[in-house]
Amino acid sequence: MDMPIEAASDAAVLSPPAPAQETGGVDAPAHVAIIMDGNGRWAERRGLPRAEGHRRGVEALRRTVRAAIELNLRYLTVYSFSSENWRRPAAEVFQLMNLLRLFFRSDLADLQRNNVRVRFIGAREDLASDIRSILEEAERRTAGGTGLNLVIAFNYGGRQELVRAARALALDVAAGRLPADAIDQAALDARLDTAGIPDPDLVIRTSGELRVSNFLLWQAAYAEFVFTPVLWPDFDRATLEAAIADFRGRDRRFGGLGGAG
Ligand code: FPP
Repeated sequence: MDMPIEAASDAAVLSPPAPAQETGGVDAPAHVAIIMDGNGRWAERRGLPRAEGHRRGVEALRRTVRAAIELNLRYLTVYSFSSENWRRPAAEVFQLMNLLRLFFRSDLADLQRNNVRVRFIGAREDLASDIRSILEEAERRTAGGTGLNLVIAFNYGGRQELVRAARALALDVAAGRLPADAIDQAALDARLDTAGIPDPDLVIRTSGELRVSNFLLWQAAYAEFVFTPVLWPDFDRATLEAAIADFRGRDRRFGGLGGAG
């Protein structure tokens, strides 16, 4: 390991949900999804190991979950580990896996106390068995949460998810459970990892990169995108609020003509 990761100094960060406030208007996004990018650059610019950037990225995640609770968001989805991140050096992959272990060891009780419901999207079968157990335990222990829905994309890729859904459809058709001509958008949607989760209204990508990187390809069909130059370890409530303010100024038309209504 690169460096000891102390039990989250600000593990008890989640303050109680604040009363409905400035983002409570009709145009507030119910679901914000974030591509957390720039941990490596944040560290490199400071002459620090990339590992330190990821460690500070976890702190930014904690801050963002707290802000999402305070701002009364219904859903927050974060891209924590992509299907393509396995291509990184083994030591970095190991560290990212370890950060997930440490995050839930230190923060699960707080998430529960704050009424957060945790869910994971992504392919679980390639993950180490202890990681799979952590995901299951986090989902089970927070299943009754009625506050923020925190969706963690881990070993997630949008194309891979669509392939799994296509396979599930094919199996249902082959087994006679589903007529082929009953395949429609809802049938596919119901077989995605995100089944039951509303589509993101707003997708934020940090670090100035202008790519979607295999994130929520189906679900983000009508999302508004905000790209910020802020590197993920520097992300905070103010950055989140600025992105939401930008979103609220957009004219969402969903393919129609839109207008004020
Ligand atoms: C992108 O930065 C970030 C990642 C690949 C990982 C995101 C992970 C975290 C924020 C922490 C993990 C949290 C949990 C709960 C597992 P990058 O390394 O691609 O940055 P760069 O583009 O500057 O190199």
